[in-house]
Amino acid sequence: MSVEAMEFLYTEDKISEVVGVEGYEKLVRNVCQQALKSVDTTYVFLERYAYINGYAGSGVALLSGNIGYARNLFLDVSEGLPCDDMGMHIASRVFSATVDEHTDRRLGHSPHRVLAKIMLDAVAGYAGYDQNIEQRNRLDKKSSAFLSVVDSFKRNYQGSSHDIGALIQALGYHIASEFLADKEYQIIDEEVWFRHPDEQFRHHVKRGKNREGGWYGPWSWITTHGHYGEAENDDGHGVEHEHWVDALEAARLALKYKPEIISEKEFFVCLERGLLRFRRDWKRLFNIVLEEMDAVAKGA
Ligand SMILES: [Fe+2]
Ligand SMILES: [Fe+2]
Repeated sequence: MSVEAMEFLYTEDKISEVVGVEGYEKLVRNVCQQALKSVDTTYVFLERYAYINGYAGSGVALLSGNIGYARNLFLDVSEGLPCDDMGMHIASRVFSATVDEHTDRRLGHSPHRVLAKIMLDAVAGYAGYDQNIEQRNRLDKKSSAFLSVVDSFKRNYQGSSHDIGALIQALGYHIASEFLADKEYQIIDEEVWFRHPDEQFRHHVKRGKNREGGWYGPWSWITTHGHYGEAENDDGHGVEHEHWVDALEAARLALKYKPEIISEKEFFVCLERGLLRFRRDWKRLFNIVLEEMDAVAKGA
């Protein structure tokens, strides 16, 4: 492995630089702050965020399946040994990110989509939509711009088993997704839960941690992924950080066992294209959510 490859796969700084993490975090913080303007904007932000993330687990499973399907692409051709198919070694490092998505061992074996729904129902309770279901239905209607980002997210996540370039690009997309999600959830916990100006929000959408360190309450969909570290006196990491570490290991193995048809240089071009595509999709997503919240605030 070249020095550049080592640097890329092992330094957080390099990935932060490629995805422009500082500007990205600012955008997420701004979205969270706008979400605090009213009960409706709080709901709209969390509804859209939960909705698109509801596809992440399936996207990860599809990508992992496509890596496994590409049976003759990733081979161990070490001298003196029969050629070994290494696809499943790489796929497993991707798949690990979606085990909890389907059945979270720490949270009663619930799928994360169910946890997100519990959180959202609690937010709806806070907003008083149980008395005004029409309002919730109205706010649940997503713009076509939002839905087109969701489509792009679904398309870009899975890769293709027939195309090594597309697979490596999707691996880059996955790395960015896990890396940035770790930051997103930490910021959301800090800005939306801790800094919500209305105490009633915290009263309805409870957030708690038991003595064994397990999360409870409707807000645990957020905190299990990442949380406000200062409040807990720790680094704020949740499962997204573990997923990111595994995603990097998948990329390292993919580079080690890549077929000759793709050079190391091309490998990194594809990986970086995936990272940038994720940033593009999610910056678009957050900007659209800002517009949607603005329209809600103006009563449109
Ligand atoms: Fe999740
Ligand atoms: Fe994840």
